[in-house]
Amino acid sequence: TRTPVNVTVTGAAGQIGYALLFRIASGHLLGPDVPVNLRLLEIPQGLKAAEGTAMELDDCAFPLLRNIEITDDANVGFAGANVALLVGARPRTKGMERGDLLSANGGIFKPQGKAINDNAADDIKVLVVGNPANTNALIAQAAAPDVPAERFTAMTRLDHNRAISQLAAKTGAAVSDIKRLTIWGNHSATQYPDIFHAEVAGKNAAEVVNDEVWLADTFIPTVAKRGAAIIEARGASSAASAANAAIDHVHTWVNGTAEGDWTSMGIPSDGSYGVPEGIISSFPVTTKDGKYEIVQGLDINAFSRARIDASVQELTEERDAVRELGLI
Ligand code: NAI
Repeated sequence: TRTPVNVTVTGAAGQIGYALLFRIASGHLLGPDVPVNLRLLEIPQGLKAAEGTAMELDDCAFPLLRNIEITDDANVGFAGANVALLVGARPRTKGMERGDLLSANGGIFKPQGKAINDNAADDIKVLVVGNPANTNALIAQAAAPDVPAERFTAMTRLDHNRAISQLAAKTGAAVSDIKRLTIWGNHSATQYPDIFHAEVAGKNAAEVVNDEVWLADTFIPTVAKRGAAIIEARGASSAASAANAAIDHVHTWVNGTAEGDWTSMGIPSDGSYGVPEGIISSFPVTTKDGKYEIVQGLDINAFSRARIDASVQELTEERDAVRELGLI
């Protein structure tokens, strides 16, 4: 039998954590034949609720779930971690400036990055979900100099999935017929969902849609502002869909993209497509054998260029702000 994979989830007692843990334990993160040990990292106030969730996990009698450890000590939480899902973050509260938000999150992601550096397994893969996800990933990565930088990723898969769903609805295609969609840039309102290289049942999506007004005034804002629309409708932020996207992100990273398709991941830029090296920005990537590669050679038209540049500009400003705060 296979040795269990150690999966650490921070913010385990939160709403995404609740939607995520049961799917990890039932084999959806890594595959139906991979046993897992769960490490739940919370702040002291979250420990009791995490214990309650662990009781429910026990009550599911998942065949793949070997053990659960609950802790508020990051060094314990990341000990031997093969996969780390950093979900717990400090939300923006009323009147909070960007600098305050970044420094509050720096107080979480810097020590967690160091704890990953010092305690995680050599093959650690990190996904940051907690917002501002791209810059939180950059902070954690900077605090982990012994871990290869490319192991730190940020989640734009929810945006990717939202865009696929919107495009399928517009064209009447099945979601499984949509391929090669790309989210570029930041997981924020400036993100750019790109359909110019996407396919709908094998045909170019932009040509199938053939409606630049819909693209600019409906599709892009609907995808970018979907999080706010969910809050408005549900009275709470996206949780099950965010957990689902986290599952998809790691599953694709570990198990590979399908032939002829790609996905979107926030990853440290290597300078491709004019995105400054080092910032964590979303790109089209293919994955294979647990490694990802940026899809190269895509033609970027003026419509796309302006939108990618605007989102990358925001990421550059966030990087400069956390540098000024001494967080990277
Ligand atoms: P939540 O508030 O329900 O749960 C957050 C949990 O994190 C709480 O249990 C809290 O105690 C815990 N926590 C706080 N600081 C921690 C620390 N230092 N270590 C460990 N745990 C800590 O929030 P929810 O809805 O689960 O969302 C979590 C994050 O995910 C938020 O930052 C949210 O903005 C983000 N998010 C990101 C998405 C993306 O697409 N990248 C989509 C949806 C949400």
